[in-house]
Amino acid sequence: MIEVSTPITVTLGPHRQYPIHFRPLGEVPSLMAAAGLRRGRCLIVTDDHVGPLYADRLEQALLGAGWSPRRYTVPAGESTKSLPHLQKIYDVALSWGIDRRTPVLALGGGVVGDLAGFAAATLLRGLPLVQLPTSLIAQVDSAIGGKTGINHVVGKNLIGAFHQPALVCADPETLATLPPREWTSGLAEAVKHAFIADADLLAYVEQHMPAILERDPSVTHPLIYRAAAIKAAVVGEDEREAGRRAILNFGHTFGHAIERVAGYGVFTHGEAVALGMRAALYLSRCLHPDLPLERADRLLRQIPVQGRLADLPIPSLMQAMHADKKVDGRTLRFVVLRRPGEAYVTADVHRDDVEAAWLFARGELD
Ligand code: GLY
Repeated sequence: MIEVSTPITVTLGPHRQYPIHFRPLGEVPSLMAAAGLRRGRCLIVTDDHVGPLYADRLEQALLGAGWSPRRYTVPAGESTKSLPHLQKIYDVALSWGIDRRTPVLALGGGVVGDLAGFAAATLLRGLPLVQLPTSLIAQVDSAIGGKTGINHVVGKNLIGAFHQPALVCADPETLATLPPREWTSGLAEAVKHAFIADADLLAYVEQHMPAILERDPSVTHPLIYRAAAIKAAVVGEDEREAGRRAILNFGHTFGHAIERVAGYGVFTHGEAVALGMRAALYLSRCLHPDLPLERADRLLRQIPVQGRLADLPIPSLMQAMHADKKVDGRTLRFVVLRRPGEAYVTADVHRDDVEAAWLFARGELD
């Protein structure tokens, strides 16, 4: 039985580490004190979906503990990860009056975490950051590991910085209000962590999939905790993605192409990754014939995906994969599985196999 109330530690070096707590938002002030943050002003960045639900609770707790919080609310949605919205955070923070010890609290999902995180990374050359993820994708993935940034018209996440938080506090209760499609999208990333690093967790997901889809907390909390712990361990081994961290991109070479060809917003990121993982599993089986493709694929097919992959032409998807890599100057690489729970990165794949992988993900190949 996993004790989900024990914090996870992200260890980046002998004197660089931070905790991931799964505690109620009301406990954030004491967790901030334990992390050595000095009471005074703090800037809460949230969005107009999450803020009305949870920011009052957080503010009251901060006020009660002697903090002077200020809330800044951005519109919910990916288009908020932009220079104009970043500029507004700079304006609010700098005209209010902050110093280098003023924490930025990112209360929301991946968009808020990335945007507020980048503001924290750059304001006064770096402010303490507190990640308070309220979506599943943020609790198991994006709030952990220090990737922050905004999008550019040329592509997503092309402007940013590594800026590790002082602490992460994921309140499991906030997931209750998550829209169903965001839940299943986050689930794809949690399952991804099981595929790349933990065959036991994969078996757990297989066994409990109906209850996970029903969001039964007794089953989902251990999954979230273990998925977050995998992310923490991978980041601890390779903070700046010089090598191993790239395995977190399982399904993403295919997934990014889906998002690009369909147009952003047609598939959620998690849905694109779920389909991308099906293709990546097929590719893995081309390299490792013993891989239990059917079994793994059966699991992924249970994650609901809106949008039809069959509507996207394969030549466009192939082209998009190459275009994606041209932007960041790297060669086309894929994360593949040697076996469930063990992943590595390779560029050594045949084009025919990649095309067949697309057909497989569309359900047109066994
Ligand atoms: N989401 C991939 C990473 O943080 O490296």
